[in-house]
Amino acid sequence: MKKEILKRLKEAEGYVSGQELCDSLGVSRTAVWKAVRLLEEEGYRIQAVRNKGYRLSTDSDVLSVDELSQEICGSWAGKHLVVLKTVDSTNLEARRQAEDGAPHGTLVLAENQTAGKGRRGRFWESPEGTGIWMSLLLRPDFEPVHASMLTLLAAMAVVKGIRQATGLSCQIKWPNDIVLNGKKICGILTEMSTEEDCIRYVVVGIGINANLEGFPEELKEKGTSLLLESGKPVRRAKLAAAVLSVWEDYYEEFLKTLDFSSLMEEYNEHLVNRDRQVTVLAPGGAWQGISMGINREGELLVRRTDGTVEAVMSGEVSVRGVYGYV
Ligand code: BTN
Repeated sequence: MKKEILKRLKEAEGYVSGQELCDSLGVSRTAVWKAVRLLEEEGYRIQAVRNKGYRLSTDSDVLSVDELSQEICGSWAGKHLVVLKTVDSTNLEARRQAEDGAPHGTLVLAENQTAGKGRRGRFWESPEGTGIWMSLLLRPDFEPVHASMLTLLAAMAVVKGIRQATGLSCQIKWPNDIVLNGKKICGILTEMSTEEDCIRYVVVGIGINANLEGFPEELKEKGTSLLLESGKPVRRAKLAAAVLSVWEDYYEEFLKTLDFSSLMEEYNEHLVNRDRQVTVLAPGGAWQGISMGINREGELLVRRTDGTVEAVMSGEVSVRGVYGYV
């Protein structure tokens, strides 16, 4: 019933009378009032005015199962939802869910992570109620060698999802960062469990700095949020749903060939340092070259000063701008 009331309040232009809700749902006024209280506890801002009824404030930014399931319109990604107030890491929770048999497409989302995981064992700052900290569980049928490309697919989905939900144009810093105005607004961490030569499951973790109002001193230079860059708060459920919906399209396209043959052109259009000089931080030492874009395997092609072109694999290396992060 709570879900139905939320739907009615969202559809309404202004106030919805309590009586109208009672009549259409066949419940008592007390039941409506209780459901409204529960919605408020979830974070919705609802005005209740005598003789007018209830009105949902448009700046409500709630991540709840009800809210997300109303926004998510795809066919499988995020159909099974686990939404938590707090968790160590949504990637860890998705792995636990996977071990317990959760289905392909399960989405784990939390308001707060106490041990958010970044790449290379780093800590991912995940302040409460401000970002989108989510992990998508996949049970693909392909070989482990293709899994690193899922990070690139997720990057494309985040860029397009952000554009659809906010109008902002972000870029991709290969392989797993999304940047806006030269600063990082999203990181992606893909983890996999395998058995012999088979994938048991993959977890694609996405952290989007949506409504963060500031950053710790050490991250200020490099990190930003959609709110800080645009001045406008983002409705996180809408953005998460947009990312998931485009994710489904990209994923299904990728499954046709298990490579980026039909996607690399679009990917390369969003590449932040395309045709620019980059530093490749490889295990054998750092070297510089011109970033030319990805190939169909998702490797970054970098032209060395002697003209030779090297295909750089994610996982092994990082790429930096010559003068800084981008
Ligand atoms: C990086 O840029 O280093 C990757 C950051 C990935 C962060 C996300 S937030 C949701 C998911 N859960 C985690 O613990 N990490 C990823």
